Amino acid sequence: MVRTAERLAQLPPYLFVQIRQKEREAKARGIDVISLGVGDPDQPTPDHVIDALCAAAHDPAMHVYPPDEERGMAEFRQAVAGWYQGRFGVRADPEREVLALIGSKEGNHHLALAYLNPGDIALIPDPAYPAYVASAIFAGAQVVRVPMSAERGWLPDYAAIPSDLARRAKILWLNYPNNPTTATANTAFWQETVAWATATETIVVNDCPYSEITFSEQPTSLLSGGTLAAPVVEFNSLSKPYNMTGWRIGMAVGNADIIAALRKVKENTDSGVFGAVQRAGVAALSGPQENIARLLAIYRRRRDLVVDTWHALGLPLDAPRATFYVWAPVPAGRDSLSFAGELLERAGVVVTPGVGYGTQGDGYVRMSLTMRDERLLEAMQRLRALGPL
Ligand SMILES: Cc1ncc(COP(=O)(O)O)c(C=O)c1O
Repeated sequence: MVRTAERLAQLPPYLFVQIRQKEREAKARGIDVISLGVGDPDQPTPDHVIDALCAAAHDPAMHVYPPDEERGMAEFRQAVAGWYQGRFGVRADPEREVLALIGSKEGNHHLALAYLNPGDIALIPDPAYPAYVASAIFAGAQVVRVPMSAERGWLPDYAAIPSDLARRAKILWLNYPNNPTTATANTAFWQETVAWATATETIVVNDCPYSEITFSEQPTSLLSGGTLAAPVVEFNSLSKPYNMTGWRIGMAVGNADIIAALRKVKENTDSGVFGAVQRAGVAALSGPQENIARLLAIYRRRRDLVVDTWHALGLPLDAPRATFYVWAPVPAGRDSLSFAGELLERAGVVVTPGVGYGTQGDGYVRMSLTMRDERLLEAMQRLRALGPL
């Protein structure tokens, strides 16, 4: 058998595999399992976006390689620039500072390939969305985890990053609003971040697909913390606000050199997003936005149900301010993997153990709010029946 490349062996053990295996076993035993493990919207894509896709799919000009290939069509890049200006007051040049992506996950991966040489240092928060570590490892980089804590609002303490490490690091990955911790960042934090990026000559990327899933505050952007002359880039996505995870469309906005480097990787890797999907993306970004308020009302209702349930179990929890997750503390003295296993065994409910995002996440489990109302209610009733934990 031909051996796979070392980089596959270097990926950290995928802890979610263990819980999935237990889920399969429980199903095989006839248990009606409700999984709150996956964050994939249950609500439909807005009709006007689907209509735009259908119309564009009938246009033969869309059947060839996408116009402007890997960088995205001009009309899509202009729509992104207009959206960034409207949402965040950020001015980005659609020619030099905007790029279409096949989802923000693609941007993270290609950023690593564009900047990280074997042995280079990538700073990745602990806990964090696992794709950042995988992308850095695929590029051969050395991953240094930056510990986060609830006490600091799950934000990095720049003063605690040793200056020689900061100078040697090439990329710092951030993600606010955050998956899994649900933390948000304010403009003062972004200003501090841009100043740190400039002083240490480290690229700061904010992976930002949850910017619109924010309950009580105005969404913020890393790019509002300074000018795009700084080494900063943000990845956003249509996946979450428009219920378009399967469509695979997102955008990079930021420093022109970083956008050019990403483009170079993409030009040699993919041929961009299907033109009809980009047209639909323009309809999503530039058309009516009522769908988002409706979506937020649904997630808020579900969030409150989960938070109330956690309180009924005798566990502390503040209502998340953003994202469609709840990051809930496990009972004192328990670890996240065994606690998730217990909820599956005793209630048939799958939650994600926080340790899967890094050791700092071990005191928590993550629950996704993208489950239909009646199933989420059923899951919460089963948890309540466990009584105080
Ligand atoms: C933090 C984070 N980044 C990126 C993604 C992937 O987003 P996209 O569909 O835009 O690739 C997700 C999806 O769950 C996510 O949670």
